Amino acid sequence: MKVLMVCLGNICRSPLAEGILRSKVEKAGLHWIVDSAGTSAHNVGCSPHMSSQKIASKNGFDISKHKCRNFVKEDIRYFDKIYVMDDENYNDVKRIAEIFWNETKIDYLMNELFPGKNKIIFDPWYGGEEGFYQVYEMMEKACEALINKLTNNN
Ligand code: 4NP
Repeated sequence: MKVLMVCLGNICRSPLAEGILRSKVEKAGLHWIVDSAGTSAHNVGCSPHMSSQKIASKNGFDISKHKCRNFVKEDIRYFDKIYVMDDENYNDVKRIAEIFWNETKIDYLMNELFPGKNKIIFDPWYGGEEGFYQVYEMMEKACEALINKLTNNN
């Protein structure tokens, strides 16, 4: 499996989601490719937000080496599943994808917990640290559901 997590900045949510899923993948002894990207070009080359890095290290994994990158339409061909956090990400992925758009590959991450509800994982960028913890809890549960489903380990 090749899984890509996508948010707007690739600074707060998607690097943390990538780290959560990779940590679960490693614990399960799987050999998946897990990556993350952002739909906005503003932060390319930057490290994840300090609050995302802090939550990762508190939970036993390291995301400090990640460098923010842009989502590109070729990602749709390369990855098996692409998870977005909110409506803006979904629409941006669709816009960037152009002819590569493939509805079967792209979904809201929270649909792994609440199928078809398109619930969002909000952007914690403008709030305090508490928001990052809330976002972490949502992504952790969704990634657990995702890995259980894709490994038929329900
Ligand atoms: P993210 O959060 O999409 O979860 O990485 C953001 C990071 C940066 C910006 C917006 C959202 N920004 O405007 O630079």
